[in-house]
Amino acid sequence: MGATFDVILKGGVVVNHDGVGVRDIGVSDGRIMAIGDLGSASAGETIDCFGLTILPGVIDTQVHFREPGAEHKEDLESGSRAAVLGGVTAVFEMPNTDPQTVSAAALEDKLERARGRMHCDHAFFMGGTRENARELGELEMLPGCAGVKVFVGSSTGTLLLEDDEDIDVVLRHIRRRAAFHAEDEPRLRERAGLREPGRPETHPVWRDETAAMLATQRLVRLARAAGRRIHILHVSTAEEMAFLAHHKDVASVEVTPHHLTLTADSYASLGTKLQMNPPVRDSRHRIGLWAGLANGTADILGSDHAPHTLEEKAKPYPDSPSGMAGVQTLVPIMLDQVNAGCLSIERFVDMTSAGPARLFQIACKGRIAAGYDADFTIVDMRRRQEITDDWIASRCAWTPYAGHTVSAWPVGTMVRGRVVMWEGDLLAPATGEPVRFLETLPRS
Ligand code: DOR
Repeated sequence: MGATFDVILKGGVVVNHDGVGVRDIGVSDGRIMAIGDLGSASAGETIDCFGLTILPGVIDTQVHFREPGAEHKEDLESGSRAAVLGGVTAVFEMPNTDPQTVSAAALEDKLERARGRMHCDHAFFMGGTRENARELGELEMLPGCAGVKVFVGSSTGTLLLEDDEDIDVVLRHIRRRAAFHAEDEPRLRERAGLREPGRPETHPVWRDETAAMLATQRLVRLARAAGRRIHILHVSTAEEMAFLAHHKDVASVEVTPHHLTLTADSYASLGTKLQMNPPVRDSRHRIGLWAGLANGTADILGSDHAPHTLEEKAKPYPDSPSGMAGVQTLVPIMLDQVNAGCLSIERFVDMTSAGPARLFQIACKGRIAAGYDADFTIVDMRRRQEITDDWIASRCAWTPYAGHTVSAWPVGTMVRGRVVMWEGDLLAPATGEPVRFLETLPRS
């Protein structure tokens, strides 16, 4: 008599620590139990995965879901629905909401709002401010907290910590890796006059490569002095990537699909839809980012999902807000790049599952291995499909990739053993749970 599982995923091409190959996966109680030929086993449910590729669940470590405060753009339900429709099984959400996530009460409020409404697993970043800097050591340890996030250059919202002294206080009070939006605020202020009304193509002139590089260099210097680990979000310049290659002992690196696949040439067709902080720049930077991806300097891919409504985006630049949706398109856009030969499928997994788990010390996610959560992103690597605005579940209902045909598609999303999405349909109630972290597991 063979083993019995709750679910067997049958015959998919599994990408895991062991390589790439056809295997069955047995799942019980939401955990992976067995990997291999499970021909003699039985299960309550068998999912036919022949012809499909099974990846460890994709973890998007940078999304803005706007709740509380701007639910007309997005909320935790719609944002997480977009995530699972796009094959994403867990998200880390950013603190620039209203109120901001800068206290234990604000974090608890988000976790409470997420319960029974979020379709994927989740954690929330704690915003670092001058006021809470000395408490961050305790705040970052709270269950459901992904760590501390600091804006050293202003973006959407008012979270900002621009002085070295203040950043130093934050770094000296925390232990976990902290995430940073790196654009130099004094330089942004100095150059604000370079924005030309009605011309979003001047966005990267204002927020230039030097602004990004200055902030990244300062952060590395401060992190080194304080002996802390930092995570530079959405690296957008070739120079930062080359610099960060020399500082991997203190700094980890995120790149985004939009900085890897779009360039300043598209301001003509996309206008303010392309407006993002840090900006999408010319192709020299795109090439530099791919070089950092190829040589391993870049650790992870995050979408920086930052929805704004079409009405808001229709305001003339620079009154138009910065940001675009991305959580739902991360998997198809980047797997299309895999098929185009720009990165391997193993590297994709390294950057979307193993990488997030390694950097943020996630417990039991990020690998297809016995004892780990049964989170899977199930994809068809041969499905050609057009990305359309209609498909976007985000409240903003648009994507800069509308009209773009990709060569791979997420067909199934499993979160802790439950199929939450299959062929574009939501199949389960919203039972997302807080992500657990090794550094903050409760002690008994
Ligand atoms: O363009 C951006 N929009 N960059 C950010 O860092 C924040 C985001 C938002 O929240 O809209």
